[in-house]
Amino acid sequence: MAGGFGPTGGGATEFEAKITPIVIISCIMAATGGLMFGYDVGVSGGVTSMPDFLKKFFPVVYENTLKEEDSNYCKYDNQNLQLFTSSLYLAGLTATFFASYTTRKLGRRITMLIAGVFFLIGTAFNAAAQDLAMLIVGRILLGCGVGFANQAVPVFLSEIAPTRIRGGLNILFQLNVTIGILFANLVNYGTNKIKGGWGWRLSLGLAGIPALLLTVGALFVVDTPNSLIERGHLDEGKAVLKRIRGTDNVEPEYLELVEASRVAKAVKHPFRNLLQRKNRPQLIIAVALQIFQQFTGINAIMFYAPVLFNTLGFGGDASLYSSVITGAVNVLSTIVSIYSVDKVGRRMLLLEAGVQMFFSQVVIAIILGIKVKDHSDNLGKGFAVLVVVLVCTFVSSFAWSWGPLGWLIPSETFPLETRSAGQSVTVCVNLVFTFVIAQAFLSMLCHFKFGIFLFFSGWVFIMSVFVLFLLPETKNIPIEEMTERVWKRHWLWKRFMDDDDYDNVAAVTNGEKKNGVHNGFDPSSQL
Ligand code: BGC
Repeated sequence: MAGGFGPTGGGATEFEAKITPIVIISCIMAATGGLMFGYDVGVSGGVTSMPDFLKKFFPVVYENTLKEEDSNYCKYDNQNLQLFTSSLYLAGLTATFFASYTTRKLGRRITMLIAGVFFLIGTAFNAAAQDLAMLIVGRILLGCGVGFANQAVPVFLSEIAPTRIRGGLNILFQLNVTIGILFANLVNYGTNKIKGGWGWRLSLGLAGIPALLLTVGALFVVDTPNSLIERGHLDEGKAVLKRIRGTDNVEPEYLELVEASRVAKAVKHPFRNLLQRKNRPQLIIAVALQIFQQFTGINAIMFYAPVLFNTLGFGGDASLYSSVITGAVNVLSTIVSIYSVDKVGRRMLLLEAGVQMFFSQVVIAIILGIKVKDHSDNLGKGFAVLVVVLVCTFVSSFAWSWGPLGWLIPSETFPLETRSAGQSVTVCVNLVFTFVIAQAFLSMLCHFKFGIFLFFSGWVFIMSVFVLFLLPETKNIPIEEMTERVWKRHWLWKRFMDDDDYDNVAAVTNGEKKNGVHNGFDPSSQL
């Protein structure tokens, strides 16, 4: 996922740990995993707006783009074209289930290696594609890579990084996703200029760079102590712990890892636990945040910005560089989030963004409603610039709110006993709705026309009301104090809290501190 991403580190015990070369290499690994995912998100929209690509794989769509008399809004409405984008997410969703197993049984490192190999083969299929089938097979293989990588990389990171940098790593992964998207936008802008009709092959093929880095990286890094211990290699686990922490004084952390592994194994039915009444608030919030994140409409922009700009009458080049601008705004605004999330808090960012997203979408809808008629490309230069500015306004507010926080908040609210299962559900729901948007957006654009932006703004309104009344602030609250300080004080959620239920959670809090929070299926979940 997409990605998201790792632990919060809130309230965890600080053990002696240096930032060793292994830890630095791990961060580079995270970068390639995130970049790879982001690249796949960003590349499809650009190539689907390239005439040579359309001519080869989607001749019907190509014909439509040439026809004057057809509705602009429906030029790209084609299920196969949408399948090219969406198949990746469907495959990713399915692969996550297998990745859960391999992460647990074979380890994080091997799972990352599997991801890298999928990415490499998928990239080769895409870059060499002769027909639509080859293209879709390539996207499915890339999706499998995403499923494995988005499972294993954040887990790997959360386990290998010293506690004090875990929170930062959480948003760092998201930052890398946005950099990957921007990189893809830039590449598309460049390859579109290549004469001879093979520019799109280069766009799809350059995904091979992060794929290769991830694969080679996975060959050389060590597996995490947690994974080794969990698989019964206690001595090796301890030796690796000494190496990655850069000290021989690892006994307290080692013992905690052993205990965490025992506790994790003792949770027999994490998914059943998740459905208990006392866990309802976190579950409702995690699921709602994922659905809402996708219904902001962000991926309509991330996947289809060049196509959308084309629809609005921008030329090929203008569409692609406008996408580069929105991609850059996405990266920069994610950095804003890193700095402000623990200062102004989650609610403040989400509510501010709600207002900003709502107004930018409504104004875009009004401009398009008035200026873009069905049968002509008459959005003048001034209005075209205004639309790009408004799209950037929308993207920036998403990038400092729903983008990173959609992942961060679930990762810091589930109690230990349901954390792994909760995160699994979080990732699944996210990918399901990412798939839905990828598969439906161009058809929705055709039917709703400019109203598509009103549709999304309606959702933004609903999600902001949800935040206002139902999302408690979790800023600076240690994970193990969430129940007392957050849930039991909330006007609605306190009704779901029952003192007795929490005795067993308190008993295993130590395990929580170490075994941690991560995105994806926890290796310890007993599916
Ligand atoms: C979302 C992705 C989206 C990305 C854009 C992530 O948080 O989960 O679906 O493409 O942000 O930056």
